[in-house]
Amino acid sequence: MLEAGTIVSGYRVDGVLGDGGMGAVYRATQLSLGRAVALKLLAPNLSDDPGFRARFEREGHVQAALDNDHIVTVYEAGQSDYGLFLAMRLIAGPTLKQLILDASLDPRRSVRLLTQVAHALDTAHGAGLIHRDVKPQNILIGKSDHAYLADFGLIKAPDEARLTGTGQFIGTIDYVAPEQIQAEPATPASDIYALAGVLYECLTGEVPFPKPSDAATLHAHVMQPPPKVSERRPDLPQALDGVIAQGMAKDPWSRPSLAAELIQAASRALSSSPSGIALAAPGRDGAAQRERPVQVTKTVASASATPSSSSRSTPSVVAPAAEAVAGEAREPSAQWPRRLIAVIAALILTAFAAGFALGLIVH
Ligand SMILES: Nc1ncnc2c1ncn2[C@@H]1O[C@H](COP(=O)(O)OP(=O)(O)OP(=O)(O)O)[C@@H](O)[C@H]1O
Ligand SMILES: [Mg+2]
Repeated sequence: MLEAGTIVSGYRVDGVLGDGGMGAVYRATQLSLGRAVALKLLAPNLSDDPGFRARFEREGHVQAALDNDHIVTVYEAGQSDYGLFLAMRLIAGPTLKQLILDASLDPRRSVRLLTQVAHALDTAHGAGLIHRDVKPQNILIGKSDHAYLADFGLIKAPDEARLTGTGQFIGTIDYVAPEQIQAEPATPASDIYALAGVLYECLTGEVPFPKPSDAATLHAHVMQPPPKVSERRPDLPQALDGVIAQGMAKDPWSRPSLAAELIQAASRALSSSPSGIALAAPGRDGAAQRERPVQVTKTVASASATPSSSSRSTPSVVAPAAEAVAGEAREPSAQWPRRLIAVIAALILTAFAAGFALGLIVH
């Protein structure tokens, strides 16, 4: 990690924003313009690897060429004394993953955010480019819930050779399409599969196939039917099951041809819920938040794990917080016996008082 104050090719490092599979991202100042930027630096051990260098350089060129309000703008890409760097627009907000982990995403907000991501993806696909690493960590949320798709490092034109060699897919395993696992070429439909996986996670709070090992997750993407929203969120419209089933279809040709179609279908499914019923954010265990308050621990694979598994961070449940159960968050069903007892007691007291008063009058 670079220390604050370090100058990297005209950019002053001000702090750390995050650490990813290819290096670290810093908050920095472009000294020539006094502009705040996000500065991504390739990890030193990767700088000499021709494959990683090529992916990193490609990230800058491809991202700079894309003109879309929902794609992070790249200002400069190049070589510095500290390795390869990428200067890009600083998005002062959380990632979508952070919003999911905080359980602060209700379904309608999720759809509003993913509509913007779908627009970015459809633009990239229209330009003949595939993102290949669509995941909540690569979706940054700026002011007024403006969503940005970041990290086009794995993007490539469909007719180009893979940069990582045959037999090795590029992408994050929690959202990776079956065809990528089977070493078939990624297509825009592979990004749509991943987007459907992200949609599922936004709605339920859980990745599509939470498994104890990477091998089991990969196997599930290829062999298991798409997960059902209704199993984790019975309070949401069942039509969402069909939306996820189509978006995460094993056959790429069975998926919606546009990312926007997928999210519009989700929006329609949500509108089919009875009006007036507020759709809650998923609880941190994936159930509706208002039903069962839970605490969460974040499980992150060790730094020595493979790059694909380094991004695995899955919410897992521990026992409900005692104060949440005892306090205001008590379920209505736990309160009604007390209320019934109070009402019966009030009736008995009233009857006694009435009888007493009647006795007085008679005498
Ligand atoms: N343009 C940006 N503005 C603000 N923060 C950013 C920006 N780009 C990245 N970050 C922050 O830096 C973190 C690390 O990003 P990075 O792309 O290196 O890793 P990642 O997306 O988590 O994993 P991977 O390397 O597998 O893509 C992000 O999670 C985000 O918090
Ligand atoms: Mg990233």
